[in-house]
Amino acid sequence: MSAMPAAEPPALDPLYVEALATFRDLLAEATTGGDPEPTAMTLATADAQGRPSARTVLLKAVDERGFVFYTNFDSRKGQQLAANPHAALLFLWKTLREQVQAKIEGAVEPVSVAEADAYFASRPRASQIGAWASLQSQTLDARETFEARIAEFETKFESVDVPRPPHWSGFRVVPEMIEFWYGAKFRLHERHRYARVDGRWSKRLVYP
Ligand SMILES: Cc1cc2nc3c(=O)[nH]c(=O)nc-3n(C[C@H](O)[C@H](O)[C@H](O)COP(=O)(O)O)c2cc1C
Repeated sequence: MSAMPAAEPPALDPLYVEALATFRDLLAEATTGGDPEPTAMTLATADAQGRPSARTVLLKAVDERGFVFYTNFDSRKGQQLAANPHAALLFLWKTLREQVQAKIEGAVEPVSVAEADAYFASRPRASQIGAWASLQSQTLDARETFEARIAEFETKFESVDVPRPPHWSGFRVVPEMIEFWYGAKFRLHERHRYARVDGRWSKRLVYP
């Protein structure tokens, strides 16, 4: 019996393709325009009771699968995402045009082991050591304790490649909503919202 041909991946919804292209274009424009931290985004998560918290993280990858950031899975955000795997991301490009905001909401999933390993391997060695040494979000009694932990892991991994810590990896936000807010004079801003409902994307304007 001959092997079945591999199934074609489902065609991407053209509105989703448009939203991602718009995001990429704005990010590129913010970057070339001199935004000091164009990939910085506010990441909002909530615990199992729905109590929110937010912090800044860096966008490390974006493609049709979603928006990726890396962190310590034992951190507060990591624990919240384990209990409630949904997140919102917010970019504010203050120096772009009349200011532009991009908002992404969706379910969250861990990236693959291969992706996390590849990204971790690309980081500077000091950042790799830091990922082992930092008990992110836990109370630190004194700066010296952290410095001692850094020294400990520098010794442990002396003259070998630093492996990725088991608690350090990436999360991918799979978009259900992508919205662009374009600032305009006299507060007559424009909002374009793309949303996925029952697998289909729609696009509409929203009052600012
Ligand atoms: C510009 C900037 C970029 C940051 N990037 C990251 C990041 O990519 N990953 C991360 O875990 N923390 C990053 N942080 C630190 C987080 O904001 C936060 O302090 C840390 O992740 C602990 O958050 P939590 O206790 O809510 O889990 C960044 C902070 C700033 C100001």
